[in-house]
Amino acid sequence: MSEAVAVAKAHQAPPCTVVILGASGDLAKRKLLPSLYNLRACGRGMLAPDTVILGFARRQIETGEFRAQAREAISHYSRIEIDESCWNDFAGRLDYLGGLDQPGGFHKLKKRLEEAETAHKLPPNRIFYLAIPPQAMSAAVENLSSAGLINPANSANFTRVVIEKPIGHDLKSAVELNRTLHRYLDESQIFRIDHYLGKETVQNMMVLRFANSIFEQMWNNRYIDHVQITVAESEGVGTRAAYYDQAGALRDMMQNHMLQLMTMLSMEPPVSLDAAAVRNSKLDVIRSLRPIPPEQVRSIAVRARYAGGIIDRQSVRGYLEEAGVAEASRTETFVAMKAYIDNWRWSGVPFYLRTGKRLPHRASAIFVQFKDVPTILFNRQGALQPDVLTLRIQPDEGFSFEVLAKEPGFDVAIKPVKMNLSYQSEFTGHSPDAYERLLLDVMTGDHTLFLSGEFVRLSWQLLQPILDAWRDDPAIPMEVYPAGGWGPDGAETLIRNDGRSWRNV
Ligand code: BG6
Repeated sequence: MSEAVAVAKAHQAPPCTVVILGASGDLAKRKLLPSLYNLRACGRGMLAPDTVILGFARRQIETGEFRAQAREAISHYSRIEIDESCWNDFAGRLDYLGGLDQPGGFHKLKKRLEEAETAHKLPPNRIFYLAIPPQAMSAAVENLSSAGLINPANSANFTRVVIEKPIGHDLKSAVELNRTLHRYLDESQIFRIDHYLGKETVQNMMVLRFANSIFEQMWNNRYIDHVQITVAESEGVGTRAAYYDQAGALRDMMQNHMLQLMTMLSMEPPVSLDAAAVRNSKLDVIRSLRPIPPEQVRSIAVRARYAGGIIDRQSVRGYLEEAGVAEASRTETFVAMKAYIDNWRWSGVPFYLRTGKRLPHRASAIFVQFKDVPTILFNRQGALQPDVLTLRIQPDEGFSFEVLAKEPGFDVAIKPVKMNLSYQSEFTGHSPDAYERLLLDVMTGDHTLFLSGEFVRLSWQLLQPILDAWRDDPAIPMEVYPAGGWGPDGAETLIRNDGRSWRNV
């Protein structure tokens, strides 16, 4: 096998303090603490040795208890096992402060930060990770500012703020949040995260498209018939009903992860790999998305909610029976929609997107289906299977190309065959978790994989007509699908009306 060519090397993070606001929450336990541990521990030691992680949340617990909870979370969710000497070193850098919701809480945070910086001889490079509910974000940024914790962007040491999704609840709230952020922070200090952009396969899309000469020639409406993106989850709403019942699949997945996947697949080659260039190319896509007229919402978007059913031979309850879901909930757990990018490259090529909870299994993939050959030779007697490039996002990351071949024998029989690349079997190294990469990028100040405020605004602007119609028009159905099925009939009709069908993931 040939050697890999290192195009851009990951930098080691500079010494800093990472303050996790909402440190006792789900995100901190499942993703942030395990990712920080992995960055610290796994061989390459990407964190500066003197990094401090300060948990800040409402609950008043001792640092010792926070460390014990962190250890449990890391043993459970980290991709590498706990190594005692690594853990002891990591634990020594974990600190905790309660009282996030108390008057004066942020002033105490400032004092604690300064003490930690003095004790560990750290420069005041600070990252505030807002792992808190969306409605608490503006107040948190205001509090950071009034406690004197936000230094100007041109200071010798950095202050960076990481904003987790959902970034707003609709267009209006997203614009307001952006305004608040800009009142206290420079855009260069804001890191709006979408963890799908940290996934290895999503980044590979750029390499696949722009490091290979064959694909880019065909990557347009002359050769591509349509694109499908499916993000399927078998999990239900779990313990997150308080958030999810207010959000639904359109806000939770479509506005962010799905649109990001679509944008990465369709953007023009950026002029360089700089953050600004990549973000500009992505902005051009979202600006070219065809606006959705209110009267067309019904024909281009489908919503549905799961009923009880069977997944993995286990019977599971319906969405309305889940703990914490309102009795009269009108929240969708599945959404399918059709979009068009009205630019020269993609004019006339439909993009079909679907995502849902309680589908048969967890699998995400993008299918690029190529146009049929002219009906002259092999397909005179009937349509042949189209060529399809599949990008598998998860699990079993990789890609495959389905083409037609002649079956050996005297007859001319044509059969689809697959050229398949599986990351797992091709590469030996382990992929870092999306959050590891993104946390490292925040520390090194690289914005490439983060969203600009304008992108977020435009993505809400695109979907707002759907949100409005679903809220205001009782005639738009909320379909129901059984857990363990592939979604509602409406999703089938949406694509079948165009003479196409969903591909299996
Ligand atoms: C989150 C959503 O952003 O992404 C969840 O809030 C969803 O509802 C999750 O389950 C899916 O992420 P992944 O990485 O497991 O595909």
